[in-house]
Amino acid sequence: MTIQVSKRAMFSAVAALALGALSSQPALAQSYPDKPITMIVPFSAGGPTDTVGRILAQSMTGFLKQQVIIENVGGAGGTLGAARVARAEPNGYTIFLHHIGQSTAPALYRKLSYNAADDFTPIGLVADVPMTLVARKDFPAKDLKELIAYVQTHKDKVTYANAGVGSASHLCGMLLMSAIKADLTTVPYKGTGPAMNDLLGGQVDFMCDQTTNTTGQIKAGKIKAYAVTTPNKVPSLPDLPVASANGLPGFEIAVWHGLYAPKNLPKPIADKLVAALQHAVKDPMVKQKLADLGTEPASPARATPAALDQFLRSEIVKWMRIIKQAGVYAD
Ligand code: MLT
Repeated sequence: MTIQVSKRAMFSAVAALALGALSSQPALAQSYPDKPITMIVPFSAGGPTDTVGRILAQSMTGFLKQQVIIENVGGAGGTLGAARVARAEPNGYTIFLHHIGQSTAPALYRKLSYNAADDFTPIGLVADVPMTLVARKDFPAKDLKELIAYVQTHKDKVTYANAGVGSASHLCGMLLMSAIKADLTTVPYKGTGPAMNDLLGGQVDFMCDQTTNTTGQIKAGKIKAYAVTTPNKVPSLPDLPVASANGLPGFEIAVWHGLYAPKNLPKPIADKLVAALQHAVKDPMVKQKLADLGTEPASPARATPAALDQFLRSEIVKWMRIIKQAGVYAD
């Protein structure tokens, strides 16, 4: 038995299907998010990126009325986490907090499995975090001048912790070693959370790490601090001198953080995530927690897709030139 289906009926069935698919986007966005969202942090729990992530996630959870849950995917200076996000479904249930490492990876990793600018949907900038030069509590140098002299004398006898090639702590160390012309022995970790444990225990000598990870230990007197890497003093650490004005001219680095999703994220969903980020950068809880840790949220004007996209692309160009000049590679 054959069933005759008129062309008109066929056409209206196809049209209904197509309209259903199209009309489902606003419906999809209206119901989004209807389950918890995973925020990938590409470094270990307990480190500076994780700390910013948890503060941001708490605020976004309140705004979106859905749990934003951190998943730490550490390794290879943040590139393993980035690769995971680049492969994820663009459905709004995987988002990504990364930092300056997103812009240095293309220069350091010649076999990256993703394009750092094109394989992500930018949501917006989150915060710029100062770095601090810190050492184990009984390290011999008492100030920045002595630290520089000690490292120049003892060179690879000094161990330097970082979160892998491409991490901010690696970048800071690379710039420092270039500035003082001394190569330290590098000890890589999956994040400066675990690195801090070894610094506290005296298993590693020295580190350049973000105030979001060092402020508490410095104030508790559990590690030695020598300087901040920003052009101006950090209000929450007023006793720390500015490195570039005290023996390390031009040595300045701050760790910008950005929020992303996989590329091709439907615009209605991206808009909701942008709204949640805009809420977070104005959230008094976020402002207070970041201020206690030496930083502040990005301005609403920078917490936008266009601002992050433009800034990331300019940073990729900048670090490609600097890193190629330094002749440093990870692979
Ligand atoms: C780094 O780049 O050093 C990372 O931020 C360390 C971390 O977040 O654990």
